[in-house]
Amino acid sequence: MSFKLVNIWNPKGGQGKSMIAINLAAAAVEMGLKPLVICQDPQGTSRMIYAGGRLPFEVISSIPQEKPDANLVLIDHQASDWELPKGRIVLMPVKPARTQYKTYVDARKLAEKAGKQVITVVTDAQHHRAEERATAERLVEKGAIEIPSSGVFSRADAQLMTIFDPEMNKAYKVKDRRGDFMKILGALMAEVLEEEGRTQNVA
Ligand SMILES: Nc1ncnc2c1ncn2[C@@H]1O[C@H](COP(=O)(O)OP(=O)(O)O)[C@@H](O)[C@H]1O
Ligand SMILES: [Mg+2]
Repeated sequence: MSFKLVNIWNPKGGQGKSMIAINLAAAAVEMGLKPLVICQDPQGTSRMIYAGGRLPFEVISSIPQEKPDANLVLIDHQASDWELPKGRIVLMPVKPARTQYKTYVDARKLAEKAGKQVITVVTDAQHHRAEERATAERLVEKGAIEIPSSGVFSRADAQLMTIFDPEMNKAYKVKDRRGDFMKILGALMAEVLEEEGRTQNVA
C-alpha cells in the first residue's frame, strides 16, 4: 500500500499536535482511509490515549522498518523537537497567545525556507482577547484553518477517545468540530494530489 506522510510539527509543547494527530486520524477512518499515527515518545499523549483501547487506528512509537500497512501516516512530533521534518507536507498547529506564537513563527520560517508546504491550524484561540483574535484572524486570512476553542477536546481526552467516538455524539457542537477535521483532511488531500501531479509532470 502506498502512503502519504504528514508531519505534525511545532517545537513548542501544548499547541495541539497530539490532539490533531489522533482526531485527524479518526477523521481519516470516517473517510475510509487507513491511518497510522507515529508518536516517538512512548509516554506521549497520543500513545497514552491509544493505550485506552478505543482508537480505531494504531499509534506506534517508532518509525517502522517496513512499509506500513496504511495510506496516511501522521507523525506526532515531540515538544522541543527542532529538527526539520523530512516530508514535504508539514501541518503546524499554533495557539495564538503571545507567549505561544513566537516558536511557530520561527519554525515556520525554517520550514518555508526548506521548501516545505506548511498547513497552519490555529487552535484554542481566545477570541475575547483582542490580541489573540487579531493573530488568529490574520493567520486565517493567510489560509490557516481554525479549530475553535472547545470543551469537547478535554472531554474526549479524559475518556481516552477522539471526538469522533460515538460516545461523543451528543457533546456540544461536536459536529462542528468534526467538520473542522474534515476540512483539514481536505486541505491535506489537495496538497497530496498537487504533489502527485507535479511528480508525474516531471516524470
Ligand atoms: N481547539 C482547542 N480547544 C480546546 N482545547 C484545545 C484545543 N486545541 C488543543 N487543545 C488542548 O490543548 C492541550 C495541549 O494539546 P496537545 O495536543 O497535547 O499539544 P502538543 O501535542 O502540541 O503538546 C490539550 O489539553 C488539548 O486538548
Ligand atoms: Mg504532544
